[in-house]
Amino acid sequence: MDWAALRAAATDVAGRAYAPYSGLRVGAAGQTTDGRIIVGCNVENASFGLTLCAECGLVSALHATDPTATDPTATDPTATDSAQLQAVAVVAGDGEPLLPCGRCRQLLMEAGGPHLLLDTADGPVELSVLLPAAFTTTDLSERREPR
Ligand code: THU
Repeated sequence: MDWAALRAAATDVAGRAYAPYSGLRVGAAGQTTDGRIIVGCNVENASFGLTLCAECGLVSALHATDPTATDPTATDPTATDSAQLQAVAVVAGDGEPLLPCGRCRQLLMEAGGPHLLLDTADGPVELSVLLPAAFTTTDLSERREPR
């Protein structure tokens, strides 16, 4: 994995973040399983609760730019041919790694699975370390009640 390139892409897109309220620009870059690098940045709003984290943009880009045909009825994205995230770098405007917030760890889990690698100041770490005992699509499919 070219972590330097991933971190550079994250730093570049952090420069396009819209963060006038917090002053914290965030950029996220992901390597996809089909060999692409995709990016996202945080977008804030005067109605503070509407803030979109950089990882939200990243996950949206994963789906929005996926060239493979997907099954719209599939509830387990890891069981389809859809592109997934393989490695992700998130940085603040200073270019240094930033660990994803709790909600974004959950979003990343469904976009990359427990073995997704996250860039940290101490090197790559699997998402399962940052989000142990996660609620996943398996819980949903195994525990939902028949309609
Ligand atoms: N932020 C992200 O973009 N990702 C995270 O994982 C943590 C927080 C953004 C949201 C908000 O625009 C700013 O950082 C301050 O919380």
